[in-house]
Amino acid sequence: MVQLNADEFNQEHFLREYWQKKPVVIRQGFKHFQDPISADEIAGLACEEEVESRLVYKKGQEWQAEFGPFESYEHLGDKNWSLVVQALDNWSEEAAQMIEPFRFLPHWRLDDLMVSFATPGGGVGPHIDWYDVFICQGSGKRHWRVGDEGQHREFAAHAALLHVEPFEAIIDVELEPGDILYIPPGFPHEGVTLETSLSFSVGFRTNSAVSLLSGFADHLIDNEQGGQLITDPERQATQHSGAIDANDFEKIKQQLTSLTDNDEILRHFIGGFYTQAKHELDLQPDLDLIADDDIKVAIAEHNLMRLGGVRAFYFPETVTEGICYIDGKTVEFPKAISPIVQLMCDQVVITQEQLAPWTNNSDFIDFITAQLGAGYWYCAS
Ligand code: SIN
Ligand code: CO
Repeated sequence: MVQLNADEFNQEHFLREYWQKKPVVIRQGFKHFQDPISADEIAGLACEEEVESRLVYKKGQEWQAEFGPFESYEHLGDKNWSLVVQALDNWSEEAAQMIEPFRFLPHWRLDDLMVSFATPGGGVGPHIDWYDVFICQGSGKRHWRVGDEGQHREFAAHAALLHVEPFEAIIDVELEPGDILYIPPGFPHEGVTLETSLSFSVGFRTNSAVSLLSGFADHLIDNEQGGQLITDPERQATQHSGAIDANDFEKIKQQLTSLTDNDEILRHFIGGFYTQAKHELDLQPDLDLIADDDIKVAIAEHNLMRLGGVRAFYFPETVTEGICYIDGKTVEFPKAISPIVQLMCDQVVITQEQLAPWTNNSDFIDFITAQLGAGYWYCAS
């Protein structure tokens, strides 16, 4: 299991001093760090159609970016290129472990786990990200420079690479295996590999109000809500037919806020919105298990695993009423099984011990049968 080194990383201190405030290097944030996945396996994943990957290298002075799937890397030589794979947590159970140490942050804010394999001299160039990222150095060594937030001019170094002009470093370090570099949104940074390297980036982000509003509008349309018109039977004559007066402005505003102020409507939207998968899921339901009606036995004998990339959240206010959200959908269940459903949202692994009190509960068996059937959870081998 990948665990943060408590001597070097104190969650309260980190949140107070650094989170969303300034970048920091946590030397040996992971003690005795071992790569959870090999460079070869990463290269193999980037050959798959469903996996999102990118090669970045320089041709002379020109930055180049190519999107996967790739067939071979031989032409690239052994210097000055890097391979980036997104949503590694969707494709590798072992690598997905890299996310676990960061559960002290709520996972509705989680983006994904990205990995970059880079040969000496390789990197994606100087840039700014709009998410918080924990860059965890795996094998190899990488030189990182991070600048202060501020006015930095960005430009397209290539159609797929937004770079930033040279910046002065406030952090200038070489990362070694087990070191972590945390960078909040808006701080320019650049990593250049010194020795063939793997870095695992755990990203957290929020959504802009405009993307939420656009999603909210779609949600209302899908659910046939928000169609009420303004009514004004008490209207008085106006002297200014061209004016939208203060009273009318309030009415129009109220028409909108009555929807965003409605916690029930808003929770359904937010629960669905934030549980939508960010990348393709590797859904492979074990149909034999479900057809065999052996689920009771299976869950008594195995740990239950949530598939990497599946998002499952709840609101404490309504989970006890039997409501949670999984993969973009509202899921209702009998209230009595709420404790185990919460656990399934809070953790990716549910141990046999945690499952034991529920294996004879027919409501839970129904619930888990549906989840196994959808492929969102599976029994660990
Ligand atoms: C990389 O690992 O090459 C890019 C990570 C980042 O700077 O966001
Ligand atoms: Co970055």
